[in-house]
Amino acid sequence: MNYKDFGLVNTRQMLSGALSGGYAVPGYNFNNLEQLQAIIQACIETRSPVILQVSAGARKYVGVEILTRMVQGAIKNFAPPVALHLDHGATFEICRDCIDMGFSSVMIDASDKPFDENVELSQRVAEYAHKHDVSVEAELGALAGIEDDKIGHENHYTNPHDVKRFVELTGVDSLAVSIGTSHGVYKMRNPDGKLRFDILHEIADNLPDFPLVLHGASSVPETIVAEINKYGGEIKDAHGIPADQLIKAHRMNICKINVDSDARLAFTAGVRKILSEQPGAFDPRVYLSAARDMMKEMYIDKNINVMGAADVY
Ligand code: G3H
Ligand code: 13P
Ligand code: ZN
Repeated sequence: MNYKDFGLVNTRQMLSGALSGGYAVPGYNFNNLEQLQAIIQACIETRSPVILQVSAGARKYVGVEILTRMVQGAIKNFAPPVALHLDHGATFEICRDCIDMGFSSVMIDASDKPFDENVELSQRVAEYAHKHDVSVEAELGALAGIEDDKIGHENHYTNPHDVKRFVELTGVDSLAVSIGTSHGVYKMRNPDGKLRFDILHEIADNLPDFPLVLHGASSVPETIVAEINKYGGEIKDAHGIPADQLIKAHRMNICKINVDSDARLAFTAGVRKILSEQPGAFDPRVYLSAARDMMKEMYIDKNINVMGAADVY
């Protein structure tokens, strides 16, 4: 199945536009219909390109075929450029299957492996992907948080001395780097929300004009957390990466910024509020609409005020 038949694009042109334009293309994870609709509507309204991301958790929850078909249906008559991307693909096989299924971009995440193994696996994926004109993201270094399990220690920043050799050996199209972000809403290893711009500078010097990717970049907006807690939630001590840090990053070589957790928070806030205000509601379309509206508002704000991706195509 060729992704081009469904109006999808790979990420190469998107990311080179972001590199020269000093903004970031949003990489938004989605796990259900309402989230996909919220992303699509926000990107149409802001005229923003978008990379729709499918994680292992999303594949387990919904199934990759359903997610793929949902996207193919949802982007009919969609004007902004859109890529369908595998997030944190762990093996060659999952990357190959997603490419065969109609994805336009994949991430091979072998960042938990020794350098040479990471190179070998990333190169193998790039070779297969490029035969299908699919773009490939790889990762060097490891984020704190969920990736702790894989590497067994705290934030392992990307070594700027490795990046050029890695990209030359693998032929990948973009590179995720570790400069202080982490997945989830408790970015505890980075309590001041400050990124390591010294490392990013060095990476960019060694790898000029090459698109870099920032994972774990949710901001955990205080207003959304407050809304959850106001309506019975108990989310304490959550914090993310402040918007000013993300803006500074995409004015450098960060061309794609991944966000998942902020949408989970917005979804939860929407559901909690409506069910609290309408305790008699039992039609899921009522509370899922509220969740969709809250996520859409968050994505619109993100596209305009964080990514700088509105009106760029
Ligand atoms: O990178 C992590 C994403 O937030 C996906 O997480 O596998 O729980 O969907 P998930
Ligand atoms: P957050 O958990 O900060 O939203 O990061 C998501 C991500 O990096 C998906 O790959
Ligand atoms: Zn990630």
